[in-house]
Amino acid sequence: MCGIFGAISDNHNILPTLLNGLEQLEYRGYDSAGIAFISNGRTERIRAVGRVENLRNEASRYQGSIAIGHTRWATHGGVSVENAHPHQSHHLMIVHNGIIDAYEEHKKRLIQKGYAFESETDTEVLAHLLHEATLNNADLISAVKQVIATVTGNYALLVMDQNDPTSLIATAQGCPLILGLKDDTTFIASDIAAIIPETNRLIYLEQGDCVIMQAGNIAYFSNQAEQVLSPIAISEKIQISDLSIEKLDIGHYTHFMLKEIFEQPHVIEKTALKAITQQFDPELFGEKAVTLFPQVKHIQILACGTSYFAGMVAKYWIESIAKIPTHVEISSEYRYREVLIEDGTMIVTISQSGETLDTIEAKKHAEENGAFASLAICNVKESVLPRTSDCRLYTEAGIEVGVASTKAFTTQLTALFILANALAKSQGKMDETTLSKHLQMLRELPAMIAQSFNCQEIASQWGTLLLNAKSTLYLGRGIHFPIAAEGALKLKEISYIHAESYPAGELKHGPLALVDDQMPIIALLPHDDLFEKVRANLHEVLARKGKLFIITDSKVPLDDLKGAHIMHVPEVSCALSPILLTIPVQLIAYYAALVRGEDIDKPRNLAKSLTVE
Ligand code: AGP
Repeated sequence: MCGIFGAISDNHNILPTLLNGLEQLEYRGYDSAGIAFISNGRTERIRAVGRVENLRNEASRYQGSIAIGHTRWATHGGVSVENAHPHQSHHLMIVHNGIIDAYEEHKKRLIQKGYAFESETDTEVLAHLLHEATLNNADLISAVKQVIATVTGNYALLVMDQNDPTSLIATAQGCPLILGLKDDTTFIASDIAAIIPETNRLIYLEQGDCVIMQAGNIAYFSNQAEQVLSPIAISEKIQISDLSIEKLDIGHYTHFMLKEIFEQPHVIEKTALKAITQQFDPELFGEKAVTLFPQVKHIQILACGTSYFAGMVAKYWIESIAKIPTHVEISSEYRYREVLIEDGTMIVTISQSGETLDTIEAKKHAEENGAFASLAICNVKESVLPRTSDCRLYTEAGIEVGVASTKAFTTQLTALFILANALAKSQGKMDETTLSKHLQMLRELPAMIAQSFNCQEIASQWGTLLLNAKSTLYLGRGIHFPIAAEGALKLKEISYIHAESYPAGELKHGPLALVDDQMPIIALLPHDDLFEKVRANLHEVLARKGKLFIITDSKVPLDDLKGAHIMHVPEVSCALSPILLTIPVQLIAYYAALVRGEDIDKPRNLAKSLTVE
């Protein structure tokens, strides 16, 4: 995924603001960055491999009141200046997030028509298609409409024309674009993080719509209404964000990831608040949920990465609380498989960004094969998945800057626990005692999470002990196996230490061969009904001199597990212990990456969300 930011102002220098906003978007992709602007009637372009910071020096030599910018996570074409956006075709400059289908065919035809290419990107193809369209259209907006009517794929696109320095043109399909309105300046960005420092008056571009941005005003072309919106209709689209610039600040933390780990008690409480006051009422998920939930006979969860592990935990809750058969699938696998969907199947997508292409396409695949309803658990308001679903519940994690998901994950788990209870209640499977017990568990959860931070010191020590590890094994069982998987993913993605997760009971069926006195094994030993089983599994490890690190919320003495490192976290009700046991594995990964000096908030090769295959 990439980050787009553009602005047009009434004759004041917008370049510093543009660069600051782009830096807020770097978590979306940080392989390379670039800006283009019009200064003294000339289009200038500055591009660099690496961070936005690398643009500042040259940009400081210019002034411009109209500019577009981009941070890139490489898809088509390697990491190079030539592949960095903006891309140019004659008098046009564009920046783009997404992917254009079959761009090679377009490229061949354009080359035959005499267009010269400098990059390997699909975006440059789009730039030349737009220039070609201007040759037979009266104005640029018509050319843009012609091109988006002919290409397929998903895109958020921003166009600047040297021949018209008074406006920018934007359009989007399948990728978010948000307008920010200020008195004499209009902004547009992939994410509100770039806009909030300037204004909280936002308009979310509807899919397929186009907008001409001028200093302080816009012309909005609605695809659905097939007309230009009136000023009143435009004002009705304005949303006031409650996000503040302070919340984007790193504060006293060394990394956003650590800040976001410590925000979890607060954001979990925010996510649970309405569910507690409304006692798991299905309407929490939107008005359609009231009629849809009673009809749900099967649940199909679709997600990727950390969100997929949240789905794995949700399966246990939905099946045990709501008694609804639940299957969890990796989106990128599911979308290409011949799927069999039973009557009464509701699709549940879990996505922090709401714009992960694999999950968007997997949801479409399920709907094409008979799913009767859809529900999105998502952290980004108005993003593609919640917008295209029948029901939705937003996690209240706030902007998650760290590429490694932390608070988004635990608020997803909170939302999924709420979903299991709301489904049970809507189907008459929730008695008053259970309802009160689960509500009380949610009320107590934030304080328990806060208490679990007491493990920080030990987690730091364990992180140091992993410094030279070549590979690690994470063990969990039952509802806690997904947390072992999440711990392994956290360690991999920020410390670059290989980590594998395994169900503890499976160890003897092969992975036990890996155990020696070198490889660290991190095991979750919750005080649930599998406690003795897992304890026996851990004896198998110790019997082979395994380097064992045990995380437990049990008060049962573990003297028999001699030689193991032990970390105690507060005991919480079994149902919610997966959320609690997530904290230690997050902190262990953080400190392992810290001691190895890795770039924790922007790990190599990764991006915050993947709007591409
Ligand atoms: C987790 O730390 C990663 N950031 C990644 O696995 C992420 O969970 C995955 O890409 C799914 O993203 P989404 O939740 O925005 O759909």
